[in-house]
Amino acid sequence: MTTEASLAYVEQFQSEDDHLRTARQHAETVGVVPVLPGARAALSFLAGAAGAKSVAEIGTGTGVSGLALLRGMLPDGVLTSVDLEAENQRLARQVFLSAGISPTRFRLITGSALDVLPRLNDGGYDLVFCDGDKVEYGEYLDEALRLTRAGGFVVFDNALWHDRVADPSQRDPETLAIRELVERVRADEDLSALLLPLGDGLLVLQKPH
Ligand SMILES: C[S@@+](CC[C@H](N)C(=O)[O-])C[C@H]1O[C@@H](n2cnc3c(N)ncnc32)[C@H](O)[C@@H]1O
Repeated sequence: MTTEASLAYVEQFQSEDDHLRTARQHAETVGVVPVLPGARAALSFLAGAAGAKSVAEIGTGTGVSGLALLRGMLPDGVLTSVDLEAENQRLARQVFLSAGISPTRFRLITGSALDVLPRLNDGGYDLVFCDGDKVEYGEYLDEALRLTRAGGFVVFDNALWHDRVADPSQRDPETLAIRELVERVRADEDLSALLLPLGDGLLVLQKPH
């Protein structure tokens, strides 16, 4: 079994530069919780492995996951990221620009995910990353499967939700929604999926070819 010490070792395996540190400081200031370092590294890796030219993100926050995705994608790849909060996106934009990312490589859309996602193109994305409202995760899966190209990836953060998903006595709305999502993905024989104990848990699935 993996011990707490090993999980902590995994999180420390990848170092973070000043731009990621600044994004994390902004997150603390505005009160959002960014992906932890293990999950952040996995996002870069997956965007690279997918040869991603086009990625959609739900939950820009202050740009930790967005910068990871932009760094993993092809050099001309474009990130489309949705968030309810314009202030969070203003800080994410600052982080991307100071990290040397061209403004042509990201499109930040302010709005509610369930209003914005239906306007995005079917099959137009190599990877869709979901990190918005946990209660909406089931609806994000429906939208993400529509948006992702065949063979592309859909990734959810907080799939273990602070150890609550694995504990059946925890029945708050966020935990129930995430547990339902994980069970739905597990039961779907068409989806190849991984539940990774990185950060707060990363659920990765591949849309069938
Ligand atoms: C956990 S934070 C995202 C952190 C970011 N992915 C990162 O790692 O840097 C969640 C974000 O989702 C946004 N959010 C919450 N509910 C939303 C919704 N229904 N539609 C769009 N964004 C939402 C919040 O404003 C917040 O910025």
